[in-house]
Amino acid sequence: MSTPPTSDVDLFADDVVLDPYPAHAELRECGPVVHLPRNDVYALTRYDVVRDALADWESFSSASIAFNPMANEALTGTSLASDPPAHTQLRAALTENLSPRALRGLKAGIDTKADALVAELVEKGSFEAIDALARAFPLAVVADLIGFTGHVRANMLRWGQAAMQVLGPMNQRTAENFPIAGELYTWCSQVKAEDLAEGSVGRGIFEAEARGAIPPDTAGHIIHQYLGAGVDSTIAAIGNIVALFAEHPDQLALVRADPTLVPAAFNEVLRYWAPINTWGRLATKDVEVGGTVIPAGAQVAVLLGAGNRDPRHYDDPDTFLVERNPVDHLGFGYGPHGCAGQGLARLEAHAVIEALSRRVERLVAGPEVRVPGNTTRSIEALPVLEVIPA
Ligand code: HEM
Repeated sequence: MSTPPTSDVDLFADDVVLDPYPAHAELRECGPVVHLPRNDVYALTRYDVVRDALADWESFSSASIAFNPMANEALTGTSLASDPPAHTQLRAALTENLSPRALRGLKAGIDTKADALVAELVEKGSFEAIDALARAFPLAVVADLIGFTGHVRANMLRWGQAAMQVLGPMNQRTAENFPIAGELYTWCSQVKAEDLAEGSVGRGIFEAEARGAIPPDTAGHIIHQYLGAGVDSTIAAIGNIVALFAEHPDQLALVRADPTLVPAAFNEVLRYWAPINTWGRLATKDVEVGGTVIPAGAQVAVLLGAGNRDPRHYDDPDTFLVERNPVDHLGFGYGPHGCAGQGLARLEAHAVIEALSRRVERLVAGPEVRVPGNTTRSIEALPVLEVIPA
């Protein structure tokens, strides 16, 4: 058994987080596992090994999903950072309000909200797509869902971004965001049922706690995870939808001609530009992968975005094709921790794609602005200069 090849790629360097695809291609060619001394991690680079590792919690523990010890410490006891059997119970409490049945009642309201917002933007003729749509829409949906009011509503964006930034290595981005993530943590540890709007899902979580359906003192943690895991990633995905449709008018035309392509189009957006490219695991023992050994105790970097562009798995992976329908993409992860909020994310994204494809023939966008981020790869600003209405 040999040791994995080594590369001097830095997964968290500004140029790599802004455009990870050249580094991903290089690492995939190097091998299915590559040791990266600059990050002190073993990176999993190809589709099959990424998926296998996410399924194998006995070898790859969630005790280290972040790339610095402080964040891992803060996450202890959450569903995200637990392994079965503890994870199984934590996740059940977390997903009760995110199951297809629980979400069914939300679809009509979410569709109406997306359509009204898109109609208003089309009417304006030009707009800044990230603030006006990618941020505005999921923030409104999640705020109404959980029942946030007042200052919390105003802080959701900062808190959601910070919760993702602090998962990186101890670089400047992580250090700057710890105090902001701490505000979220403090608020969630103090929030009470009365702070959340009556009839909201957030209230329902407290009611479940009161009647003993979920363990005591878990309601605040669940709300923390909805906000921490669900806000920044969905904003990134919706911004990506607008940018990719502007860049590929032929692909928007396909969805316009055949609205049944909406779910396939969202799968392709998540495959082509995964909102989260790098996620952590801890090797619990010496683990053999592809004829090499990852040593016990090593930090592992699971490259979701690199798996999504692996030519061993997808034909022509660097091309954005809405008809491809990659239902097995890795954008939501896979296995026991596979995204617990993907039903909600899909409701939101499908509503936006449907509204755009119904109301817009073409979008003309200026250059997208990006700023480097440790975990979520998202667009900071995207000027839509002209809308050609349907
Ligand atoms: C497009 C948007 C989203 C993306 C790309 C995304 C991505 C992911 C990924 C990759 C994981 C796996 C983490 C792991 O394997 O350790 C995950 C887990 C999770 N996501 Fe999402 N997510 C999105 C939206 C949401 C939303 C809207 C919510 C909640 C309202 C949410 C809540 C969660 C939770 C709670 C987990 C942890 C599940 C567990 O530990 O079992 N996510 N997500």
